[in-house]
Amino acid sequence: MRERAEHRRSRPSHGPRAGVLLVPLIDVCPLSALPDGKRLTVEHDDQEIMVVNCGGTILAMEDRCSHDDGDLSEGELDAAACTIECPRHGAIFDLRSGRPMTLPAYQPVDTFPVVIDGDTIKLEVD
Ligand code: FES
Repeated sequence: MRERAEHRRSRPSHGPRAGVLLVPLIDVCPLSALPDGKRLTVEHDDQEIMVVNCGGTILAMEDRCSHDDGDLSEGELDAAACTIECPRHGAIFDLRSGRPMTLPAYQPVDTFPVVIDGDTIKLEVD
């Protein structure tokens, strides 16, 4: 589940820095294991990352509230709106951007690009 892989991302073929950039990927789970409205948490290095299925869109966000380190994955998920409410003090975060929509949080949390490789959910974690 935490296996590392490398993914090649092409850069534009113009300019002096044209070439291929290697982006580290981690495997999360089969796509079928994360149905709409479900979430799970994976660890990468010392970071916990929450992965959520919002209406068929897979999103990934740091599982740590920017206000006071609450575990966001334990909060109330609104899959239709793609938001999650911090269980500690109630800040609501947009899962697409990582930005808080309500106080007391005012700083965003990190989000991670998701790659669907066949039937496997992977995250870019560079
Ligand atoms: S720790 Fe999340 S709102 Fe306070």
